[in-house]
Amino acid sequence: MGFDVSVIGIGRIGLPLALSFADRGLHVLGVDVDPDRLAAVAAGRMPFEEPGAQEALERVQASGRLELTDSVAEAARAENIVITLGTPSFSHIEIDIRDVRAALDDLLPHLRPGQTIVLRSTVAPGTTEFVAGYIAKHLDLEVGEDVFVAHVPERIAAGRFFEEIDTLPCIVGGVGALSGERAAGLFDVFSAPVVQTTPVQAELAKIWTNILRYATFALPNLLMMDCEQHGANVFEVIDLINRDYPRGGIASPGLTAGTCLRKDFAFSEERSAAPGMLLAVSRVNESVPLFLVEGIKRRLGPLSGRKVAVLGLAFKADTDDERDSLAHKLIRLLERELADVAVHDPQVATPTSSFDDAVRDADAVVVATNHSVFRGPGPLARISELAAGDPLVVDPWNCFGAGQVFGYAAEVVALTPALE
Ligand SMILES: NC(=O)c1ccc[n+]([C@@H]2O[C@H](COP(=O)([O-])OP(=O)(O)OC[C@H]3O[C@@H](n4cnc5c(N)ncnc54)[C@H](O)[C@@H]3O)[C@@H](O)[C@H]2O)c1
Repeated sequence: MGFDVSVIGIGRIGLPLALSFADRGLHVLGVDVDPDRLAAVAAGRMPFEEPGAQEALERVQASGRLELTDSVAEAARAENIVITLGTPSFSHIEIDIRDVRAALDDLLPHLRPGQTIVLRSTVAPGTTEFVAGYIAKHLDLEVGEDVFVAHVPERIAAGRFFEEIDTLPCIVGGVGALSGERAAGLFDVFSAPVVQTTPVQAELAKIWTNILRYATFALPNLLMMDCEQHGANVFEVIDLINRDYPRGGIASPGLTAGTCLRKDFAFSEERSAAPGMLLAVSRVNESVPLFLVEGIKRRLGPLSGRKVAVLGLAFKADTDDERDSLAHKLIRLLERELADVAVHDPQVATPTSSFDDAVRDADAVVVATNHSVFRGPGPLARISELAAGDPLVVDPWNCFGAGQVFGYAAEVVALTPALE
């Protein structure tokens, strides 16, 4: 057939996977419709950050085992076709599978008996059966006998791909036993254990992995808001809850979002028999930017004409991925208060101010992303030096280690042991 595997959508998930297959000796075809992305990869340049990916790309290029195309139909030249396309949600609490359907429509005229189609994208329960049904409806082929369809969800965290591809159990939900075996055979090139299940259980396991994290962070975020209401310190309460407590513990607050966490709960909610609970979880996490803005206003008064520095645009620490980041929402809310907002993020592609320019003369500094470079006493000392008088420091992540969500710089510095 020409290729062992084609990967449709060489984005943040598809490209590291394509590189990993090629690194294991498979002949891989990478498919994408974005000419800039294809050009970057063809030139041997990673289009986004992922530790280890640049080295893998260089190795794979030297081996000649990765080829690229902008034609989805070409993907049918491979024995295995892995779909890693984006699956956003509509604003209607409903998965948007238009990209997956479009790719299937391109593939259908070229599919042949013996091929395996793996849905790697995150999907709402029932989508893998839809894909199998869509193929069966349009072709005279039986899924599970002639062609094979499986969901093999991606649960690897951004930034850990090359470590976790060989360690994190690989869930395989085949449509029929043979589909599961075929997909498991493909992912057997990696060292991670393969766990076979049904398609819907694979779908549920993936989205509930993310729902668990989304809900886990909503609890400390709600506690942070409650503490402000009661004049309590959330970090002290969290310490009281967790200290030597043998039955689990509560996580830390922060701006909880990102392209996966924010949408995957909606994939469950679209057919939930008990809707509402996860919407409340989402409401809590989505309220954090407003809570921070209101907290700044309570302390500084109206923000019109006041300078607010926002540190971090990425959705989580040490990534260049800004998609669905609450930092953007925070900035929009600050701008709606007529504040003069300055932003610094050393990781993202969006141009931002330098750290010094962002914090210089600021009345308030908000740590929106807990990047490693913001941690510890150094950045705090620089804020004290450059900002206006005794600026308000807003640190829901406790990056500076002072244990204060809102504190004036002099107080925060005094509470940070390394600066005493
Ligand atoms: N990013 C993550 O950390 C992560 C983690 C787990 C699961 N996922 C899931 O993996 C899937 C992909 O996410 P991602 O972050 O890699 O998305 P992405 O946007 O980075 O990648 C998607 C790629 O598909 C390309 N594309 C779009 N339409 C196409 C088409 N018709 N034909 C060919 N290529 C096309 C885009 O140009 C892009 O390069 C989603 O379902 C997501 O929920 C993502």
